Amino acid sequence: MQLTSEEREMLAGSKGPGCRLAMEVLVEMGESYQAPCLIPVESAHIVVSNHKSACDAGLEILEKFVSLGSKAAVPTTVDPGGIDLEWRGSYKIPGELLEKQRRIRDAFRALDFIPCWTCIPYLFGQSPRVGDHLGWTESSAVVYVNSILGANTNRETAGVDVAISITGRTPLHGLHLKKKRKGELLIDVRFPYPTREQMVILGYFAGLNTAAKIPVLNGIEKIARLEDCIGLGAASAAAGGVALYHIAGITPEAGDIKTAFGENPIPPPIVFGPRELKDTKGKMCTAQPGSLDAVMVGCPHYTIAEIRDLARLLAGQKIDRNVRFWIFTHKANILLAERAGYKSTIEEAGAEFVADTCMVVTYADLCGFSRIMTDSGKCAYYAPTEIASETAFGSIEECVEAAVRGEWAGVS
Ligand code: F3S
Repeated sequence: MQLTSEEREMLAGSKGPGCRLAMEVLVEMGESYQAPCLIPVESAHIVVSNHKSACDAGLEILEKFVSLGSKAAVPTTVDPGGIDLEWRGSYKIPGELLEKQRRIRDAFRALDFIPCWTCIPYLFGQSPRVGDHLGWTESSAVVYVNSILGANTNRETAGVDVAISITGRTPLHGLHLKKKRKGELLIDVRFPYPTREQMVILGYFAGLNTAAKIPVLNGIEKIARLEDCIGLGAASAAAGGVALYHIAGITPEAGDIKTAFGENPIPPPIVFGPRELKDTKGKMCTAQPGSLDAVMVGCPHYTIAEIRDLARLLAGQKIDRNVRFWIFTHKANILLAERAGYKSTIEEAGAEFVADTCMVVTYADLCGFSRIMTDSGKCAYYAPTEIASETAFGSIEECVEAAVRGEWAGVS
């Protein structure tokens, strides 16, 4: 791999032992991908942020770089932690796990990572532009910045993201190359004005059918909101490892189908119509109809607009006393919700806000929930294993209805 003179000096230790170690990691990784060189990145986003998924190995990596005096070379944000360390909430986390989360927080401070603790860093701390090269992990954020913002990042791996942050470099391969960003699979979407729920189910369907290819979604005339793309991307990334999709006529690199495919042949389309919608929704539900223990929304973290919608739905309602209703979001959104009056409306109905963590990476499995419901495709994918509970998926309206009734009626 060709290195610049500055990079050769970094590899020799000119910027300290931490930067040297990080360069060694990236050079080895780059050579395994046959990358011709490293490229500078504008920013990094880190997933070694909670002990549940980072484990002791992730903590060891962070503390190793801290011990070598490393600092982020580019703005670096972090994914949700395992728990909100300032929260006095009602589920108990074992002391040993709390201590490990504190060590992760301390390492982040020492490394100069921005502790936003969110999977929507593009709304809190980072503003990638079209054409920027980034070194990001967090599958839902990667697919969003690639597809909707037109930035370039591979779905980096935990640990390597830290090396990217410290050097401000990443190997040139995969989605950093224009020719690798072209469509490979065509989905004919029969919902020109999809609802939020249809977008999430479409994402899940795309994930199940792409086998890591880049899907081009054709037939959508208008997307109602940014949040619909966040939900679609997260579901596609969870169900099928999608890191980039195009929506013909809408997303930055897909002015039309031909542009979206570039030199690639345009394959016969896979149809996504009412039948596929219903089938996919059924696949997203592992639960049988019946009583619910919890409803969890905010995967990816809810935006303030989603909180506003939820406040309207919950106004004057009472959630069944046997159902926990958790809303995961960024802490700043809770402050905004408080100022706007949404927080009191939501809490009066019996729901709780949780910040800095999420249903998948916190220790919800320790709560003993046997059946939960969510409006998130990504949560529906991970909850059966990560929360160890049967899972029902539905629109936010269906989630609220089920939470108030105390039971889920089944796939509608
Ligand atoms: Fe975010 Fe956690 Fe979902 S990190 S995308 S809320 S699994």
